[in-house]
Amino acid sequence: MKPTLVLLPGLLCDRALWAPQIDALADVCTPWVADLTRDDSVEKMAARVLDEVQAAHFALAGLSMGGYVAFEIMRQAPERVTHLALLDTRARPDSPDEAERRKTLMRITEAARSFAPVNKRMMPLLVHAARLGDGELVRIIQEMADRTGIPGYLRQQQAIMSRADFRPTLKHIACPTLLLCGRQDAITLVSFHEEMASQMPHARFLILEQCGHLSTLEKPDEVNAALRSWLGKH
Ligand code: MLT
Repeated sequence: MKPTLVLLPGLLCDRALWAPQIDALADVCTPWVADLTRDDSVEKMAARVLDEVQAAHFALAGLSMGGYVAFEIMRQAPERVTHLALLDTRARPDSPDEAERRKTLMRITEAARSFAPVNKRMMPLLVHAARLGDGELVRIIQEMADRTGIPGYLRQQQAIMSRADFRPTLKHIACPTLLLCGRQDAITLVSFHEEMASQMPHARFLILEQCGHLSTLEKPDEVNAALRSWLGKH
């Protein structure tokens, strides 16, 4: 039987974030995408995933907020996770400035009753500058936001703001681990990944060139190759 690969989307994202991986890796695993729109804490998101995944053991990949939930799953049930992939994420909590920016974005979205102003501000941070004119990519991102909806977004931001500092947990992670980020990731910086890599010397650490925050969509071939090799490790 093929192993289950649990995929955890980021803020304002859903299954479409992982669509290129679902298509490309289905010969070696059974992908399962979590819905992280329903809870307002990372602890509750992790507990719900653990409750809903049928497989006793699974490989686990999270991007950005999905990475925060992956860290929490490693705290709640490390014995169920055979492989861990952390994409464009961070173990550290928000700085005070970041927390303020988050609250501003939440206020703007609530007042506008639309993601239009947030999308306008966030798009340059989400993808590499060269992809801002890629209408298909921008459409996928906007549609994911619309499907998440404003209440789902506010719950996710609440969860992100109240997350733990996961840095002390890194040294306990023992399964095959992949750390991957875009060189031009403007949200979860390369330096955040270097900080994590320094605490996880056994992890494979990959930086993708010409790539922003949404690596699964921006560089699907490179991400798929890295995940395929990671899934093959024992
Ligand atoms: C995400 O993509 O999940 C977010 O950028 C995470 C965050 O805002 O911390």
